Amino acid sequence: MNEHAAITPNNLEAFWMPFSANRQFKQAPRMFVGAKDMHYTTAEGRQVLDGTAGLWCVNAGHCRPLIVEAIQRQAAELDYAPAFQMGHPKAFELASRLATIAPAGLDHVFFTNSGSESVDTALKIALAYHRAKGDGARFRLIGRERGYHGVNFGGISVGGIVGNRKMFGTLLTGVDHMRHTHDAERNGFSRGEAEHGADLADDLARIAALHDPSTIAAVIVEPVAGSTGVLPPPKGYLKRLREICDQHGILLIFDEVITGYGRMGTAFAADYFGVTPDIMVTAKGLTNGVIPMGAVYVKDEIYDAFMSGAEHLIEFAHGYTYSGSPIAAAAGLATLETYKEEGLFERAKALEPVWAEAIHSLKGEPHVIDIRTIGLIGAIELQPIAGEPTRRAFSAFLKAYEAGLLIRTTGDIIALSPPLIISEGQIGEIVDVLRTILKNLD
Ligand SMILES: Cc1ncc(COP(=O)(O)O)c(C=O)c1O
Repeated sequence: MNEHAAITPNNLEAFWMPFSANRQFKQAPRMFVGAKDMHYTTAEGRQVLDGTAGLWCVNAGHCRPLIVEAIQRQAAELDYAPAFQMGHPKAFELASRLATIAPAGLDHVFFTNSGSESVDTALKIALAYHRAKGDGARFRLIGRERGYHGVNFGGISVGGIVGNRKMFGTLLTGVDHMRHTHDAERNGFSRGEAEHGADLADDLARIAALHDPSTIAAVIVEPVAGSTGVLPPPKGYLKRLREICDQHGILLIFDEVITGYGRMGTAFAADYFGVTPDIMVTAKGLTNGVIPMGAVYVKDEIYDAFMSGAEHLIEFAHGYTYSGSPIAAAAGLATLETYKEEGLFERAKALEPVWAEAIHSLKGEPHVIDIRTIGLIGAIELQPIAGEPTRRAFSAFLKAYEAGLLIRTTGDIIALSPPLIISEGQIGEIVDVLRTILKNLD
């Protein structure tokens, strides 16, 4: 008998699941087989309310008609075109459309397939930019403790989540880290920006002085640190980073993979905080999470610095087979159309206080030691079980799933980021389910 004949569709062994407890999952699988708007359908036919927009990406909700139709049409019309030395109209159209919603001056877009690729692309652009200007001594990259910038080598080097770094050797050299901005004592139960800690931005000045500022190429931060458990920046912190960068010729990179495309009630967190970076890293909500795609926005002077030398030469030796691929570009255009037609960024802005009020109403429930909200993002931090970090939050995750709610946990923190189409009633539903779970959690 052919060995392949023995493979059954419900054999869970072969698939090594990413960022998952594989053995736990395979003993009691949680399978989604369908989705529409705010809900997933499980293999058992249950409806599960999406409290996390998939993985912070399905900002317009699931299976939205414009996006589905655009992908179907594009697949039938032009499935793939070579990304290098050839083009197709939709990638150019999407880049131009993106430039119109980006902060002023970020008018050029480099396409990738994910947040991780966008991060590494941004770091490479920063290094190559200085070199193209004849300033090749700027080789250092600065990140921040607790930062998450995806899982590729550049991203984990500047990232500051220990568990994502410690297994992987020496990483990139020439990297340093600022301190994280979390200060539970002074900023507990914050709504919007944290009150205290703007002075932590001076870490950049201190690190610059240590290494000599002329050796530093770029600093990268998430405007709101997401994956580490939602840490809104202290008031004035990002502005101060911008000032220090300007003072020393350091490029400021915002990783907006989570905060981009309406999550904050504005197109980007840069708009929310009134601080414009030199490079902006995005993915996820760019295509509503439907087709993998990332976009790195750069300031005009960065793009222009590369556009020199003989015209037949490739200016930047970087790119992916699927950079700006036709189906992803079609999905991106239809996603932008959906956001605009339905006014979803404005909707998120209007919901921000409703969201904050609802999530903060969980203060005082068992195990809750902090709550943080900003935009349509929320975090509920639980007291860890002594000696068993992450177990309490993971148990909340399993109970929520059983109760028909998808949440995400990181450490002992519950992170929430629903699609921007969520109704006030559904916000109430999230809070009701969580309240019951917290009251019954070990
Ligand atoms: C801030 C940030 N950067 C980068 C990434 C990596 O994105 P991806 O998983 O698409 O590679 C993520 C993913 O959550 C993220 O939150």
